[in-house]
Amino acid sequence: DTSRPPLVSVKGYPLIKYFAEALEQLKIFQARPDDVLISTYPKSGTTWVSEILDMIYQKGDQKKCQRAPIFIRVPFLEFKAPGIPSGMESLKETPAPRLLKTHLPLALLPQTLLDQKVKVIYVARNAKDVAASYFNFYKMAKVHPDPGTWEEFLEKFMAGQVSYGSWYQHVSEWWELTKRHPILYLFFEDMKKDPKREILKITEFLEKPLPEDILDRIVQQTSFKKMRENPMTNYTTVPTELMDHSISPFMRKGTIGDWKNIFTVAQNERFDADYEKKMAGSDLHFHSEL
Ligand code: PPS
Repeated sequence: DTSRPPLVSVKGYPLIKYFAEALEQLKIFQARPDDVLISTYPKSGTTWVSEILDMIYQKGDQKKCQRAPIFIRVPFLEFKAPGIPSGMESLKETPAPRLLKTHLPLALLPQTLLDQKVKVIYVARNAKDVAASYFNFYKMAKVHPDPGTWEEFLEKFMAGQVSYGSWYQHVSEWWELTKRHPILYLFFEDMKKDPKREILKITEFLEKPLPEDILDRIVQQTSFKKMRENPMTNYTTVPTELMDHSISPFMRKGTIGDWKNIFTVAQNERFDADYEKKMAGSDLHFHSEL
């Protein structure tokens, strides 16, 4: 039975069993200086920024961006699951310059990416929306353990006992890394509020300038509505045994503040108090209204 195996611990980080196996295969991975790495804690806007980056690389050519599902166009390094190509397998078919995706904490990241000074686009999203999105994703993506009730899942999230470990540590340690590695650190909320400005930041960081009309096209093509309808971005090409969109679609809501529909007042207060403690040592600041 491939569904719902328990998480395993790798250097103290809880991981999906298959992904822990993939980390072994990843030991032979060699980064190239022209790679670009998309790094995120899960559910923070990975797919969105991946599509934006492929559109930038393809100079806004929509047809070219239809060539394969997003997880093939942007190989997911530590990915492995029955029935679809692993990250390492997808990589073999990927011509340079490559776009790569990872959710790994720094302790598990292949050192070659740092040695080669690979440019990183990091996307952070506010913790409460991440927790709400992750809960729904756990339910539909069956490589995860059963999330239990929302109450139970939220406790696990706060304790870092979910796949990839602590959100608090992930966003803070990657923020720290911006001080010594080329990283463009973006926020999901900024992308929602002004996608064009954020896309422009990406083109500047990658030194891949684009004319105004192409920038506008990328904004339109990567809207939540367009990406939800696009089989090459909405993950509906993944076998149902792995992702059951009838439980919760991958492209679920794509909004800011959906956490308000699931957190109770008591949960919110507890979360805020715990958040203050966990983030006290970091100079990373999220939008204050969240
Ligand atoms: S994963 O599985 O970790 O790679 O997931 P990830 O892509 O990081 O996050 C999925 C959430 O991002 C939302 N999403 C978007 N929001 C706005 N605009 C666009 N274009 C977009 N594409 C994906 C997606 O709906 C998930 O968030 P929730 O809150 O669950 O809707």
